[in-house]
Amino acid sequence: MNKYVINGGNRLCGSVDISGAKNAAVAILPATLLAEGPCLIENLPNISDVTRSLKILSEMGATVNVLNKSTVFIDTAHITSPLVPYEHAKHMRASYYFLGALLARYKTANVAMPGGCDLGARPIDRHIRGFEDLGCSVTIEPGGMIHASAEALVGNHIFFDGVSVGATINVMLAASKAEGLTVLENVAKEPHIVDLANFLNSMGADIRGAGTDVIKIHGVSSMHGANYTIIPDQIEAGTFMAIAAATAGDIVIKNIIPKHLESITEKLVKIGATVEEYDDSIRVFRNGPLNKITLKTLPHPGFPTDMQPQMTVLLTVAEGSSMIIEDIWDNRFKYASELRRMGADIRVDGKVAVVDGVPFLTGAPVRATDLRAGAALVIAGLIAKGTTEIEDIYHIERGYENFAEKLQSIGADIKTVYVPDRTIAPAF
Ligand code: EPZ
Repeated sequence: MNKYVINGGNRLCGSVDISGAKNAAVAILPATLLAEGPCLIENLPNISDVTRSLKILSEMGATVNVLNKSTVFIDTAHITSPLVPYEHAKHMRASYYFLGALLARYKTANVAMPGGCDLGARPIDRHIRGFEDLGCSVTIEPGGMIHASAEALVGNHIFFDGVSVGATINVMLAASKAEGLTVLENVAKEPHIVDLANFLNSMGADIRGAGTDVIKIHGVSSMHGANYTIIPDQIEAGTFMAIAAATAGDIVIKNIIPKHLESITEKLVKIGATVEEYDDSIRVFRNGPLNKITLKTLPHPGFPTDMQPQMTVLLTVAEGSSMIIEDIWDNRFKYASELRRMGADIRVDGKVAVVDGVPFLTGAPVRATDLRAGAALVIAGLIAKGTTEIEDIYHIERGYENFAEKLQSIGADIKTVYVPDRTIAPAF
């Protein structure tokens, strides 16, 4: 187990390169199962969710060769064991994308119920109804193994009763090899939805409309391998934008798509940062005070829930009282109690938090409760007076490549420290 030790107070200045998008990578890797030839995937982030996805593929029998830190050759021609065991699924929500991919390839799939960040109830009913609408039968065994199978996958008109990133991706994967036309309505529009559709199309799929409310998929009978470069990570970029604003720093964030960051830019400017956009980079700096705002998370193109904890940290030291409304997840304020240990004045009532700005935060021992909460605590540590120790940083390593090293390169005093497993002293 590792922890971060941060001495706060430094202004962070310089430039950072953003890695490939986690939430695109964890969909694109299972999608290589649909190719009848090898794929070369570039700009893969070096994070534990990607390592685990590659391990799942290689345990299934795929050839997986890591060519360099961000490029992987994958050949799924000789799959011998098309299932995802609990041992892997329990660590990663996105393991459920193997359901849609295996269904498309074999018309049968066995995947254990997924784990991942605990953000409240995370049902998969919309995925299951979508598969059923394509002609599958889906059962969940008492031990938590999900079985899905179909005689044939047949295109259909599917209206999702709520917007879901995961259900959109999973049903798109299955439908890409279904017979005939599938129309998906009320779909998610996140950048990673578009990236997966582009990858599938580069392998020979026929998917139109990704990024809008309606996706039309003409099923194809076979797909070929492809070379593909994953988009930059919107949330990693947004996190460094928040870090520039929080530390009154000046950071150029490189290898990004500014369009994906518009809702984050808009809020950061209201909070008091200056944002300059270039073709594939963005500069964020702040000289004045931090202002209160109201923030509501929404599906894309609204403000992303995955940036909510990081923005809340800025508001803990802003002037006045801010309100944060979490509209996606039932329980995404678990980190509030950790911030209170650092002196933040934050009250949570269900899906709403009210933050009264305080003059400063104070370093404290805290625990990352999930991936983005962990990133938020790092930001809190960077601006706090004194030393902050953050435990359970394995959550952060699931989604941020070389986070501590990138922060050090722009002036942060952060160290990764090995913590031996605690042993309980025998009772006398
Ligand atoms: C994806 O989760 C992301 N994960 C999450 O990112 C992100 O927070 C979320 O989308 C929202 O943007 C990946 O892409 C791997 P949803 P997902 O299905 O797909 C309800 C991060 O920090 N719902 O869009 O699981 C659900 O309860 C992570 O990187 C159903 O009711 O999210 C939630 O309220 C954490 N039934 C809402 O929809 C379903 O079948 C949106 O969930 C599915 C979802």
